[in-house]
Formats: sequence, structure tokens, C-alpha cells
Amino acid sequence: MAAAALAQIWARKLLPVPWLLCAPRRYASSDFKAADLQLEMTKTPHKKPDPREPLVFGKTFTDHMLMVEWNEKKGWSQPRIQPFQNLTLHPACSSLHYSLQLFEGLKAFKGRDQQVRLFRPWLNMDRMLRSALRLCLPSFDKGELLECIRRLIEVDKDWVPDSAGTSLYVRPVLIGNEPSLGVTRPSQALLYVILCPVGSYFRGDSVTPVSLLADPAFIRAWVGGVGNYKLGGNYGPTVLVQQEAKKKGCEQVLWLYGPDQQLTEVGTMNIFVYWTHKDGVLELVTPPLDGVILPGVVRQSLLDLAQTWGEFRVAERRITMKELLQALEEGRVREVFGSGTACQVCPVHQILYQGQHLHIPTMENGPELILRFQKELKAIQYGTSAHEWMLPV
Ligand SMILES: Cc1ncc(COP(=O)(O)O)c(C=O)c1O
Repeated sequence: MAAAALAQIWARKLLPVPWLLCAPRRYASSDFKAADLQLEMTKTPHKKPDPREPLVFGKTFTDHMLMVEWNEKKGWSQPRIQPFQNLTLHPACSSLHYSLQLFEGLKAFKGRDQQVRLFRPWLNMDRMLRSALRLCLPSFDKGELLECIRRLIEVDKDWVPDSAGTSLYVRPVLIGNEPSLGVTRPSQALLYVILCPVGSYFRGDSVTPVSLLADPAFIRAWVGGVGNYKLGGNYGPTVLVQQEAKKKGCEQVLWLYGPDQQLTEVGTMNIFVYWTHKDGVLELVTPPLDGVILPGVVRQSLLDLAQTWGEFRVAERRITMKELLQALEEGRVREVFGSGTACQVCPVHQILYQGQHLHIPTMENGPELILRFQKELKAIQYGTSAHEWMLPV
């Protein structure tokens, strides 16, 4: 893409600069530049997956990766696209000991015109930089990183699957690589990006609902914590809770928070409730970004779409278990669902809460709104016409 066109898109997309970024740079690092990209092509390309076989999420990787190194003295190295390979890490590496690690997840879609496009990648770059600053990892230029990612996908373009519902999952990672045991700001870091072709989450145009375990004994994130950043440290401790849910016959965890048992997130998704609010108004509601919620890209997209339709109230407000129970009793709940890059929109049909299986009538209600969101998102992601949310690769 021409540099001028890219600059124009960025001018439209850039959010107001957060105060942290206006503060004097805490590091001497210069930003790395996509114009300095070095390219080393693999000499042993792998066989691409058979399109007839299902792709298991995150198990198949493309031939190349992006790698950029940083150290306090020299700043960022030249970015490299190199053959996909293992990392060599010092055994004291701070990301392994103290979780100085963050990541992102976004998708590129191959349209019916065979053009590959990234879905709202500017929002992922914003979130990634916020996570980096929170962990005292080095700052970087979001536009330059995005251009490097675009070039990486261009190199591995043939890996982007094109059957219905498939995509290329993009996983940027930034880790502290301090080779010493002090709990301190790392003097070295690695930024890398790997790519995975991924299959359709649901079969065809249908959606399959999930059941949730809502147990207030488990807390994912808290006010003053880091739940609103995409840090690896937020995810490891959730594996055990996910196992608990499985043991109780549930597929995912409904994360509750606070004495009023607010519904905050579903597994690794944001949560939405489509109901008639107790004031009698039909609304779509999701919890506000108050520090315990990850600002999901799909969450933002559903809010944006619903706002443009203007057919019901769209609210960012806390939702408590008590309110949900009352709404279920009064037959006011239409649909409950999660949103995230993996599935886009995922219906919820049951919640196990205090030993009781609560039935959520999402599927009986269509699920009208979920299917409409799925359809609109698909049209944007796989469409052939330009859309301001999509960045052509
Ligand atoms: C905790 C959590 N909430 C919500 C989301 C959804 O975010 P996004 O829509 O950007 O995928 C994710 C996805 O990674 C997540 O891990």
C-alpha cells in the first residue's frame, strides 16, 4: 500500500494520544521503521494445510515470523521477517519469571476477490502499546509495527485460507528479555509476530450456544489491577477455573466481580445482554470499560454497529446477577452472548449459578441479534468493497 494512503488511514484512525504517551520518553529507544525491514525467506517451506481438514486453533503456523529486538542502550534493532523458528532465551529471562509479557490477537480475512484484509488492526495496535507502557516494556510506533505486520502477511499470503469462515490469526507478542533475576524494568525486550491459519468457529451460518459457570469465588480482574490490558499474566491463572467449569459440565466461565456480583466477561470474551431493561426500554448492554474489562475490538464493533442502526438503546453499564435473575424471572431477557476475535459473537444458553441451572432463552429468540451481528461482520470482513474498518494487505 502506498505510504500516503497508509498515512491517511492512520490520520483517521488514531485515537487521542493517552497522557502516558505525551510524557517524556522513558527510554532512549528510537522507533523501528518498516522501511528498514530485512527479509530472509525460508529455504524449507512447509506444506499448507489441506482445506478439507479442520484447522485446530493455534496449532498450525506459517513459514515466517516478524522479529524486532530492543535493548536500553541501542534501542530497537532493524525489524526482520525471518523463517519461523524457536527463540533462544536466557534462563533468567524476565518474561518467564515475572510475566513481563503481553500479546495481541487479530485476524486477516481473504475476501471473495482474493484480497486479504485486516480487521480494525489500529485498535489492536493502540491496545498493544497501552499494555507495553503498563509493563514498562519499550514504546514503539504503532503505524510502523502495523506496516511490518502487513508486510509479514504479504509474504505468507498463500497461507491465508479462503473457505467460509476461515481466517489468518495474527499474534503479536512483546516480552521482557532481561537476563537477570531482579524484579525491574527490563533492559532488553523482544517483539515478534507469528501467524496461524484458523478454521471457522461455527459451522456454516449457524451458531452453537455455550453454558457458563458463574462462581463468585473466582475473580479474573479487579479495580486497580490489569484486567484491561492484554497481558499473559491475566490468562495463566484462568486455566484452573476453566477446568472447574468443565468438571461441572460447563463450557466457559462467567467472570463475576464485586459484592454485587457484576457480570464482567465470558471466558476470553466480552459480555452483552439484549433485554428489555427494567425501565421498559429495549436495550443492548455491556459493562463499561472501568478497569476490569478488556476493551475488545469486537465489543467496540458491536457497539458501533448497534449505534448506527439506532433501533434500540445501546448502553455501557454494569449488569449484576440480581438484575439478570430478575429479568429472567420476568421474561425480559432476549439474548446473552460473548464477543471476541475467535468466535466474533457466541450465544449463551445456560448459566450454572449457586447450584442452579439458569436457562437463558437466547436460542429461542432467534438468536435474532446475534445472527444479524454475525452477518454484518462477515459482510465487512469478507466483503469485496472497501470498508473503513478493513486494512488491505
Ligand atoms: C479477557 C478477554 N476479554 C475480551 C476479549 C475480546 O477482545 P477482542 O474482541 O479484541 O478479541 C478477549 C480476547 O482476546 C479477552 O481475552
